[in-house]
Formats: sequence, C-alpha cells, structure tokens
Amino acid sequence: MISLRSICQAWFKPFLISGIKPKGKPVHGSICSLQFHHNHRPMHSSQCARQLATNSTEESLLKRKYVPRRTLMYIPGHDEKKLRKIPNLGVDCAVLECEDGVALTKKAEARENIRKILDELDFGTTDCAVRVNSMDSGLTEEDLQVIFQADKLPQTVLLPKVDTVDDIIEFTTMFKNVTKDKNGYCPYLIVYIETAIGLLNMRNILQQAKDFSAYGIYQLDGVVFGSDDLCADIGASRSTAGTELMYARQQVLLTAKAFRLQAIDMVHIDIKDLDGLLLQSEEGARFGFTGKQIIHPNQIAIVRDAFTPSKSKIDWAIELIQAFEKHQESGEGAFTFHGNMIDMPLLLQAKNIVQMSERTEQAV
Ligand code: COA
Ligand code: MG
Repeated sequence: MISLRSICQAWFKPFLISGIKPKGKPVHGSICSLQFHHNHRPMHSSQCARQLATNSTEESLLKRKYVPRRTLMYIPGHDEKKLRKIPNLGVDCAVLECEDGVALTKKAEARENIRKILDELDFGTTDCAVRVNSMDSGLTEEDLQVIFQADKLPQTVLLPKVDTVDDIIEFTTMFKNVTKDKNGYCPYLIVYIETAIGLLNMRNILQQAKDFSAYGIYQLDGVVFGSDDLCADIGASRSTAGTELMYARQQVLLTAKAFRLQAIDMVHIDIKDLDGLLLQSEEGARFGFTGKQIIHPNQIAIVRDAFTPSKSKIDWAIELIQAFEKHQESGEGAFTFHGNMIDMPLLLQAKNIVQMSERTEQAV
C-alpha cells in the first residue's frame, strides 16, 4: 500500500533533483536561535541549506520583525467585537481563533470574519496569527481556503493537535496547495502538542516540520503546550499545583528548545484567579518557556511582565558579563560574584537575559 508519507516525499523530491534550493529564512526567526548555547553546531542539514540559500523571497523575509511571543492571546473568530479590539490589546501575538474557541455552528462565520479582519485591521507590531482546526477535524482545508482569500495574510499559522508526522505531511501538502499563488509568502508555523501520542511523536514531528521549512512553505517557529486537551486525553484532573502536567509540560519545553524553537506554556483558564496566573506565569518563565497562552485581557499585563526580564535581573546580567570579561583577562575561569560561584553556564544565562531584554524592547 502506498503511504501518505511516500506520496509527499515523492512530491518534494523534484525540488531536490531540479536543483531548486530550499528557501532561506532569517536566523532571527526563532527566539531560541538568539539564545547562547555551549554548542553552536547546526542541528540539521536542512538548517545549513536554509542559511546558505539566497533569493528575493529571503531578502523580504529578512526584513520581517522578530517576534518574541510572551503573550499569545486567543480571540474567537466568530466574535467581531472582540476581534476589533486587537490593535489596542498590546499582545505580542493575537490568535484569530477557528478551533476550540469557536462552536461548530459558528465555524463558517469565524472564517469569514477572520478573512475580513485580516484585510481591515492594522495589527501594528502584533504578530497576527490564525489557528486553524486540527487535521483530524476535517475542517482544516476549508479554514485555509476561506481565510487565505484575504489580501493581507497572517504572519503566523497555528496548527493544533499535531499527533503524528503524517499530520505534518498532510498539512504541508494542503497548505502548499492553498498558498501556491501567494508569491513569496512564507509564514511562521507553530504546532500544538496536546495528546499523549503527540508527545511521544514530538521529536519526529518537529524534525519533519523543520525539514519542510527549508522549502520556504512555512518556517517552523514554535510549539504550544496544550494542557487541557492533554488532561482530557490521559484522564488527568487539573489541580492548582498542576503536578499532573509537570512531566508533559517539561517534555514539551525540552524538545522545543532542543530544536531551537519558541515554547509557549499552558493556559490558565480561571480568568478571575490573577494570583494563580502570576505564580504559574513566573514558574513557566523560570522553566524556560518563551511565553504563555492567554484568553482574557485581564491576563495580559501579568503574563507579559512575568516573561520580560526585570530591571534588576538585566542589571545583574550586565554586571556579571562585565565581571566575567575582567576575570577572563586576568586568567580566572571561575570567580565569586554577589556571593555565588560564576563560570561559563552563568555567563550564557546572563547573555540570554540581555538578549531577551533587547528583543522585547524592540517588540513594544
Ligand atoms: N479578546 C478580546 N477581547 C476580549 C477577550 C478576548 N479573548 N475576552 C474578553 N474580551 C473583552 C470583552 O469583549 C469585554 O469587552 P467590553 O468591556 O468592551 O465589553 C471585556 O474584555 C471584558 O470581558 P468579560 O465580560 O470579562 O468576558 P466575556 O464574557 O466577554 O468573555 C470569554 C469571556 C472567556 C468568552 C472570552 O474571554 C474569550 O472568548 N476568550 C477566548 C476563548 C478562546 O478562544 N478559547 C480557545 C483557546 S484556549
Ligand atoms: Mg487544545
């Protein structure tokens, strides 16, 4: 039997043999590519290809603004009043929602609204994203066909419930087909890991999407941890402490970061519980998440602040970097700074903080 994967591999093969190069993308396309690591070797051959390739599409992409998604907020597509609030929300990423925030009976209305809003609204510095329905819903193709009739296309596409490599292959074929006439269009792609099987397959899913990114159809840029779907999938009950999610949450983070992608943490669905939101956001930021999903305007400021390095943290980092350089010059590897032993890993963490603060300043 011919598998979906073999059909798609056959589909992509002519690009390789005809000498068409995979399109290049900006190195600054992912927050993690900005972070300092011990090992700067490229992870995949496709990344090398991407960095080597040059063409006009690539030049235009290089001008694209870097997007640190500290706040990734859902605005249901059927609710035009809420959609029109986007320019004043001040979020890093506004998600025009087609999936679970929209009832089945409202899907058509949501698609039409989103198509209209894409053309009418000025999103300013906000990353304009669309979350389509998952591949298993049977609704994805219609979402894409209606929404991508807009003249102004989304900067980011979010694909929920990615469970298998075949989901990525099937989506890519569908997406390529819908956008084939949109010359030079190559949005960021963010995938959701929110089932047990998705978690098990995550590494291969990201590898496949990363490999496809080299062809300039989209650029894989992040992973969202879908906590509530995961709870439903494994039969867990949500607790305030969230210990039932800890393994999956950290596994998603680690795998996303291994691929140098943004990692977006879970939603805090209790809109009124701002203290709990603060604790959970600070915890997520400490774990290394880039940002967090949010659902209500009251959550924006708390989440943004939690994922932005504080002034004292930035001062500490700058001072540490300077002290490190001074000690290096005098031949000392490790030294004491504010009572702590400092060596290379701390320097790298300090550099991450400074980089993050520079990037988030630019995003405002
Ligand atoms: N985007 C934009 N504006 C929003 C908003 C959102 N997600 N959620 C609330 N608001 C606005 C409301 O329109 C209201 O504005 P107004 O004062 O001008 O009338 C104001 O914020 C206060 O809203 P509130 O009355 O507290 O909430 P609500 O009943 O209007 O909406 C929800 C509550 C949960 C339905 C809404 O927050 C929402 O739809 N969130 C996203 C849900 C979603 O997409 N889930 C799927 C992903 S997990
Ligand atoms: Mg979900």
